[in-house]
Amino acid sequence: MSCTCENKFEELSQYINSVYDPIHPQSSLIAILHHAQNLYGYLSKDVMDHVSNTTLVPTAEIYGVATFYSYFKLVPQGKHRLSVCMGTACYIRGAGKLLEVIEDELDIKPGETSKDNLFTLDETRCVGACGLAPVVTVDDRVYPKVDPEQMLAVIKEYKSAESS
Ligand code: FES
Repeated sequence: MSCTCENKFEELSQYINSVYDPIHPQSSLIAILHHAQNLYGYLSKDVMDHVSNTTLVPTAEIYGVATFYSYFKLVPQGKHRLSVCMGTACYIRGAGKLLEVIEDELDIKPGETSKDNLFTLDETRCVGACGLAPVVTVDDRVYPKVDPEQMLAVIKEYKSAESS
């Protein structure tokens, strides 16, 4: 949808008006929240309030939808999504230690974003590469058989790329 809107709230309002179906609010709400997240990167309280004001669906209900689906993010996201697979094969081969190393290095827990906004940390379940356990992904890139030292090197690599 092209928009000559002056601000994102206006664009979001136009989108809501084009898709909102009060007969089936749930299905259109999901599309609206997808669009809002694409616009803002995450769903802040202000954005959910705006969706509520425009659709007349209570903010609590919107919040319920947003928290039900893990796709929706309620906090700002880092430039890179760093995910540690915590599936059985990876866990047995040291994924828990990798997670600890990352948490210490970036001073964040899963679901949080580093202070420099470079990484958002995630735990995932089996990503289908158990033969390469433990597996860490950064965005779409897969890092196989990672040990703690390699993990720190990967983080350093992204930090260096950012500062160069
Ligand atoms: S358990 Fe990690 S890839 Fe399968």
